[in-house]
Amino acid sequence: MNQASAVGTIGGVCIVTGGAGFIGTAVSKALADSFEQVIAVDNLHPQIHERPVRPAELDKRVKLVKADVTDAKAWDALLATSRPDVVIHLAAETGTGQSLSESTRHATVNVVGTSQMLDAMMRRSVFPSRIVLTSSRAIYGEGAWRRKDDSTVFYPPQRTRMSLEDGQWDVPGAEPLPTSAATTFPAPVSVYGATKLAQEHLLGAWAKSLGVEAVVLRLQNVYGPGQSLANPYTGIMSLFCRMAKAGRSIPLYEDGNVRRDFVIIDDVARAVHVAATIAVAPIGPVDIGSGEHQTIALAAQLIAEHYGAPQPHVTGQFREGDVRHAWADVGHASEVLRWSPRVSLREGIHSLATWIDAQESIPAL
Ligand SMILES: NC(=O)c1ccc[n+]([C@@H]2O[C@H](COP(=O)([O-])OP(=O)(O)OC[C@H]3O[C@@H](n4cnc5c(N)ncnc54)[C@H](O)[C@@H]3O)[C@@H](O)[C@H]2O)c1
Repeated sequence: MNQASAVGTIGGVCIVTGGAGFIGTAVSKALADSFEQVIAVDNLHPQIHERPVRPAELDKRVKLVKADVTDAKAWDALLATSRPDVVIHLAAETGTGQSLSESTRHATVNVVGTSQMLDAMMRRSVFPSRIVLTSSRAIYGEGAWRRKDDSTVFYPPQRTRMSLEDGQWDVPGAEPLPTSAATTFPAPVSVYGATKLAQEHLLGAWAKSLGVEAVVLRLQNVYGPGQSLANPYTGIMSLFCRMAKAGRSIPLYEDGNVRRDFVIIDDVARAVHVAATIAVAPIGPVDIGSGEHQTIALAAQLIAEHYGAPQPHVTGQFREGDVRHAWADVGHASEVLRWSPRVSLREGIHSLATWIDAQESIPAL
């Protein structure tokens, strides 16, 4: 067993699954600075990559291996020649709405892809010191709420199609609470969320049995430069930017007062790098967010202002599997990772819009 436990030291091999994606490319430079070798394992999924070529944003020092995480033979071939000290497991199907109609696809990549990786490590007796998993806020579902009259905390049930069609967006007489891994029970309401929670459980049980450190980061809504503009199922902020840039009024689902925690990619990449390299691995999942929450209406308003687009408008539409409110308490992250978010929503939108404006081609809306 590889016993390189002092992960804080620079050196060794780091494998990043999904390393050619949004978060993988953003963290690639910092990882290449910290490890002797960084290997990105990515199938260059056509829903994310318009062309199956190495992304320009991926640090030149990173070796890209085109492979599918569900492919046992590909894992065997990789681990026959590379013994990672750290693995960062990013590869996933990430469409919350899409996961309802393509649950097998999500389960196969997210759950079986994880178990194939772990089985291959076992077959090859390759035991990294640490595996970092990027989990999601989606594992919390609607999260915990507090009743206004007696302050009791409870977990509202999943919103039904009927209640949404009736425009019952919020839970009457109650206020949502920020999610915190220490106190909020997981209760996913999307297939995507269920697969991310399964990933956490799989990795946790396997790693504990084998003395491998498992670090789980539960990310809120990540946005910013580098997010695929081709993927129609993720990236609400870039979709809003493209609409506003085209001079359109941004449509707001529900009543526009859906609350989200938009965290800029730079802050997330820094959190992933710290999780991979900090000497003492945190025990238990860590929530990663912006430290604040915003309504979708406010985010859309800032984007419309940036582009001089017409005012956003409320449509009353909804998407099954979406939760009403979600934001994280990032206090634990600052304690165990010595990490805090740095970029405000306004700054983040400016940076995203600047990046979009610089793109040579933007997929049609
Ligand atoms: N971006 C967010 O808002 C967000 C929020 C919470 C959690 N996460 C998690 O972070 C991770 C990375 O997300 P991202 O935003 O970088 O996504 P992304 O879609 O930009 O990147 C994922 C990468 O994985 C690759 N991939 C997909 N299926 C694969 C497979 N079967 N085999 C190998 N590679 C495969 C894709 O080609 C892509 O390059 C995911 O696990 C996701 O669940 C992301």
